[in-house]
Amino acid sequence: MAKRKFSGLEVTLIIFVCLVTIIACVFIGLFASGQSGIKTKEFTAQCPSVLVAERIDCIPDQIATKNLCTLRGCCWSPQSDPSVPWCYFPSNYGYKVDGSTRSTEAGFENTLTRLSSPSLFGKDIETVLLTAEYQTSNRFHFKITDPNNQRFEVPHEHVKPFTGSKASNLNYKVEVKSDPFGIVVSRASNNRVLFDTTIGPLQYSDQFLQLSIRVPSTNIYGVGEHVHKQYRHDVNWKTWPMFSRDIGPSEAMHNLYGVQTFFLCLEDSSGASFGVFLMNSNAMEFVVQPAPAVTYRTIGGILDFYIFLGNTPEEVVQEYLQFVGLPCFPSYWNLGFQLSRWNYGSLDEVKSVVERNRAIGLPYDAQVTDIDYMEEKKDFTYDKEKFQDLPNFAAYMHAYGQKYIIILDPAISTQSLVDGSPYGSYVRGESKKVWVTEADRETTLIGEVWPGEAVFPDFSNPDCESWWVEECKLFHDAVPYDGIWIDMNEVSNFVQGSSKGCLANDLNYPPFTPNILDKLMYSKTICMDAVHKWGQHYDVHSLYGHSMSMATRKAIETVFPGKRSFLISRSTFVGSGNYTAHWLGDNAATWEHLRWAIPGMLEFNLFGFPYIGADICGFSDNTTEELCRRWMQVGAFYPFSRNHNAEGFMSQDPAAFGNNSLLVNSSKHYLNIRYTLLPYLYTLFYKAHTRGDTVVRPLLHEFYSDENTWGIDRQFLWGPGLLISPVLDPGVDTIQAYIPDAVWYDYDTGAKISARKQWTDMFLPGDKMGLHLRGGYVYPIQQPAQTTNASRLNPMGLIIAMDDSNTASGDLFWDDGESTGTVEREAYTYYEFTVSSNTLQITAKTIGYSDPNNLKFDEIKILGVQQRITAVAVTQNNVEENHPVNIIYDSVQKVAHITGLQLELGKSYTVQWTQ
Ligand code: NOJ
Repeated sequence: MAKRKFSGLEVTLIIFVCLVTIIACVFIGLFASGQSGIKTKEFTAQCPSVLVAERIDCIPDQIATKNLCTLRGCCWSPQSDPSVPWCYFPSNYGYKVDGSTRSTEAGFENTLTRLSSPSLFGKDIETVLLTAEYQTSNRFHFKITDPNNQRFEVPHEHVKPFTGSKASNLNYKVEVKSDPFGIVVSRASNNRVLFDTTIGPLQYSDQFLQLSIRVPSTNIYGVGEHVHKQYRHDVNWKTWPMFSRDIGPSEAMHNLYGVQTFFLCLEDSSGASFGVFLMNSNAMEFVVQPAPAVTYRTIGGILDFYIFLGNTPEEVVQEYLQFVGLPCFPSYWNLGFQLSRWNYGSLDEVKSVVERNRAIGLPYDAQVTDIDYMEEKKDFTYDKEKFQDLPNFAAYMHAYGQKYIIILDPAISTQSLVDGSPYGSYVRGESKKVWVTEADRETTLIGEVWPGEAVFPDFSNPDCESWWVEECKLFHDAVPYDGIWIDMNEVSNFVQGSSKGCLANDLNYPPFTPNILDKLMYSKTICMDAVHKWGQHYDVHSLYGHSMSMATRKAIETVFPGKRSFLISRSTFVGSGNYTAHWLGDNAATWEHLRWAIPGMLEFNLFGFPYIGADICGFSDNTTEELCRRWMQVGAFYPFSRNHNAEGFMSQDPAAFGNNSLLVNSSKHYLNIRYTLLPYLYTLFYKAHTRGDTVVRPLLHEFYSDENTWGIDRQFLWGPGLLISPVLDPGVDTIQAYIPDAVWYDYDTGAKISARKQWTDMFLPGDKMGLHLRGGYVYPIQQPAQTTNASRLNPMGLIIAMDDSNTASGDLFWDDGESTGTVEREAYTYYEFTVSSNTLQITAKTIGYSDPNNLKFDEIKILGVQQRITAVAVTQNNVEENHPVNIIYDSVQKVAHITGLQLELGKSYTVQWTQ
């Protein structure tokens, strides 16, 4: 058969048809989907049916399309619900264990190699190292690093490489799954799986690291800083970005001032709980989904996880805080009420506000001045006209037993002073080269904050720390102050990145940007390639407030040797509570913000910031009398109790509402109760400082066996005993409050309430909030006064709230209220109180402090006494003493009030009563 030759046109046609066929084949291959999987050239996704609730999102960076899903080698299955991932990871994604497990001194190691799946964001690290440590019987640590390249690790002063060996008596078991890699931690006692990463694949590329964790219950609390609006997480597909940011709390689910990566999970009604902490400071996201599961998705550093087991939620918090740094101990005066506002305008105005609030008899310990005291908003200066007399202001406050707190911002102006003379703080810092630089490590990065053009101190540089300490000292020499409030340390910058903008590179524009506000890394801050001693801004951004808090704590140690003073910081990181307290930032005068403050405070108690509060009456917007009154009521029970207001809005200090107004009277009433209970509150702070206890405590920490308490965040406790049930809605005088399973007494009347383990309607007219004392506890008290200076001179007392079996117990920590190291030096007196069989034992366990004011327990109030008390006998060392007392018995409320006891602080007594 003669061979026919193809014409040129035919050849072209054939080539064209073949090409089209090949493209079509590839196309079909790419887009074919089904239970068995999606094929890319080298990868076949295995997509077994997965519960929708358990899908791990494969397209977290943009709107998912089938096309992109295919390119990523993931599983595509659209749903009607847009919050559910339509594109999710297949089961054969991630890493696998390579070779066998190697034992180490503290645990084990494994090499993991990447499965041949497509790359999400490039620069995948093919081989990673898993290092696991059985650090204590309740604490398991594992980290995943690049064995070939040193990656950024948080230079944390408390959380350091583990040098111990494997702990014994482990309360957990660990299993490593090989292909794909997963790690599973379970509770040894009941085999419950607590932490299971097999729900999703490990991702480990240069700028995208991810691990998903299946958890055993939806009772998930923590991770911040955000407005979660509720204390228990909403597990319905929520993504919470974390990257410190100068932005006020709002409805939007954005990142806020600080970064806290810890969450707690209550497993069940036995109280068994565990906590998870990721040591990583890069920008990240935390996803919560209904499986229930969570995902940490970070864009740098390493994956460095700690898991803490406890028998109760409180135990987990204690373990976590003992590990990352226990909260600092506030001075006693810090527990007093504070007034503040931005832009009083002049010192005369400040004084008139101080005077009018003194005049109404408001319990009030400290006055704050905001940036308007400064000359042109420059740190370490004061306005020589409007605040001319500022050097004498502290003395003026002290004369009344009150204190003076100043604000400081990190950004330092580059400009001269008003009179043309050089700005000393800038000049001295400049000569020591203490500023954050541009990427070249030479040129100072210039930005703009309140004073205009400004530079940013690099607090991670020891030279910078000593410069800052010195500036704080020099200013204190000129304007004595008693405490420091540090602000704007996210770090905030009013121009994007720098006055020159930022370079186009992978740090300023990473391949994946977490869902942070503005979706721009350097928005309202400095460029990511800026350089600090600790590293590139990209890695250390969220540590800025932490480093500034440490430097300012050093300053406090120098300026106030041996004193605790006062320090709050807006931006915080894991463990910052060891140096500073925190407030919840720029809220607004709305009822929502009033409500959101409670979950915010509860969360910061988990993070180690028990001295916490929100701006009472709202920072921005004009408040209303009703809102401010309700806010003053609950604010009297914020551990950090400060009424603060933004510039330009109506005055909201209590006296501004008029002498004898409902607001003034109600504020005074509840602040007086606060001041009465300060010995109890201070003792809670002692336990927070020494053990990591919460102070503002969620109901579930005390009543975990009762499911009703697990989601409660409109009420909170002070420690185990005081139940606070505020009014949080407008136009309301009756609230639905939960009364947990205990005996409770109304604080005002002392009467036992009948409700127990149930929701109840609580009638709370305009001047009232719910306040109940839990039976079974003894509360140390002291007669209130306008300042803590004065109240600390007053007679002390005890409130005994009887439980069902007529017993109660409690304790008291007492020291000079301001020295550092009183705990370590045992320069305190510690009492234990127990009550049973009509007998109160007052036992001084430690007598290391003798109060100069000859304090005495004068009164004892007993709640829940069924019969009149007719006689009281006091014995010391088994010797009966003569203490002429007065006994009043209220047979309706069942309250006995014994006064005139005169029991000396520092001694032990037995007080017995007959009925
Ligand atoms: C922002 C702070 O959050 C706010 O409390 C303060 O009043 C202003 N900065 C002005 O300093």
